[in-house]
Amino acid sequence: MSLDRVRGVNELLPEDRQGEVMELKSMLPTFESRKLYLESYGCAMNYSDSEIVASILAGVGFTTTNDPKQADVILLNTCAIRDNAESRIWARLHDFKAAKKTNPGLIVGVLGCMAERLKSELLEKQKIVDIVAGPDAYRDLPNLIERVEGGQKAVNVLLSREETYADISPVRLDSNGVSAFISIMRGCDNMCSFCVVPFTRGRERSRDPHSIVEEVKMMSDQGYKEVTLLGQNVDSYKWGTDTSPKIHFAELLEKVAAVDKNIRVRFSTSHPKDMSDDVIYVMAAHENICNYIHLPIQSGSSVVLERMNRGYTREWYMQRVESIRKIIPGCGISSDIITGFCGETEEDHQETLSLMKWARYDFSYMFKYSERPGTFAERKYKDDVAEEIKGRRLQEVIQQQAISSHESNKADLNTIQKVLVEGISKRSENHVSGRSDHNKVVVFPRGNFVKGDLVDVLITGCTPATLLGEATINS
Ligand code: SAH
Ligand code: SF4
Ligand code: F3S
Repeated sequence: MSLDRVRGVNELLPEDRQGEVMELKSMLPTFESRKLYLESYGCAMNYSDSEIVASILAGVGFTTTNDPKQADVILLNTCAIRDNAESRIWARLHDFKAAKKTNPGLIVGVLGCMAERLKSELLEKQKIVDIVAGPDAYRDLPNLIERVEGGQKAVNVLLSREETYADISPVRLDSNGVSAFISIMRGCDNMCSFCVVPFTRGRERSRDPHSIVEEVKMMSDQGYKEVTLLGQNVDSYKWGTDTSPKIHFAELLEKVAAVDKNIRVRFSTSHPKDMSDDVIYVMAAHENICNYIHLPIQSGSSVVLERMNRGYTREWYMQRVESIRKIIPGCGISSDIITGFCGETEEDHQETLSLMKWARYDFSYMFKYSERPGTFAERKYKDDVAEEIKGRRLQEVIQQQAISSHESNKADLNTIQKVLVEGISKRSENHVSGRSDHNKVVVFPRGNFVKGDLVDVLITGCTPATLLGEATINS
């Protein structure tokens, strides 16, 4: 194993602890020249975890491939948030059945939230699965693979109260070299009644701020221009012991923003019950923290919010939005919305629509409620809104969002937006595409601009989903 690789896994730790990793690594099996194919589903945290998995397996000799046919090991990093997320995985596993017939040595593993939820049931239901590993078990992957090579099936779904993979320097997968995700915490303690995440990702824990800042420095050295700090509820980030003072999210954000003023900082997800004015003031004080907050409401009805166990009311939520708009006028705000949750009446649904109208979200992710086994809602409430009503309400919510998005885009006409170029536009070779401070996609003529450029763009047109413009200076 080359020293370089060991260093890659090592360098986020303080110097006095680096030897520990060295010792641990010398005990692992090696898989020189073996190829790994990794496919990810679900939220940004899962994609970020896949980069940790790639790093752990690179550390024992694997190289990654984009072609499953070339792979010795195929790993699917899965999501369990809604029933249809799991259906996609079952279908994908079916695809790999044929691949296993032509290559009997092929190892297939299921990682992530669906692995954690279904555990060894996955091995029984889908005979081609060899490995099941939950989100806190990725350090064990080399051993699990070795066990499968020895002719056994391998399962590790232990959840941890400490694991944050703080010392692991992720291998950036599918990276545009411009923006990167950085996990700052894992798990969730909120227990929203509809949600499977606390069961699949375990208890909330925060990552050592030193390792976060070091990772941002590393991204800066490698030429990255944007980092997104990730957690299920970033506002409850906390770090500290009796001897070292507590750091909350606002302080962490400040530390990260100070690393490199040329790196843009984003974060997700904010929780309305915990998002403090401190965070908004830090955003306002630092030019390189993007003026954009993802603040999911889920429902506009306080009665439904209570049943969802979200910990806030409609009025509390509105007061949070008012605070954001007072401290940062024009701040971009987006949301998540669920239609047809247990007991949702037509009036509740109308309250969601009126809240959306009031909030004027720039963007929303919108879903039909999907009952998840083991959640409080599944055990205590009836999934009693008919499928077609859930669907009709979802369409109404989507329509309302389309109106707000279009209004919000029209309001940007004739303004100048700072756009970080992410690459050539998918629709036209002659245009580049990037994101504004408010996280809106902006497309403009390519000129000599390249990814990573931060460009002042005059907005000259828009669609409901995209802003169109022209650079104010020539490249
Ligand atoms: N931690 C984030 C959400 C992560 S899950 C938060 O609290 O805001 C992403 C989104 O999936 C949720 O915001 C919710 O809108 C949706 N979701 C979660 N469970 C769901 C379910 N059972 N049915 C439908 N949508 C769900
Ligand atoms: Fe799920 Fe609620 Fe935690 Fe978000 S805050 S991950 S919705 S339990
Ligand atoms: Fe899905 Fe797990 Fe994320 S359930 S949304 S991959 S935390």
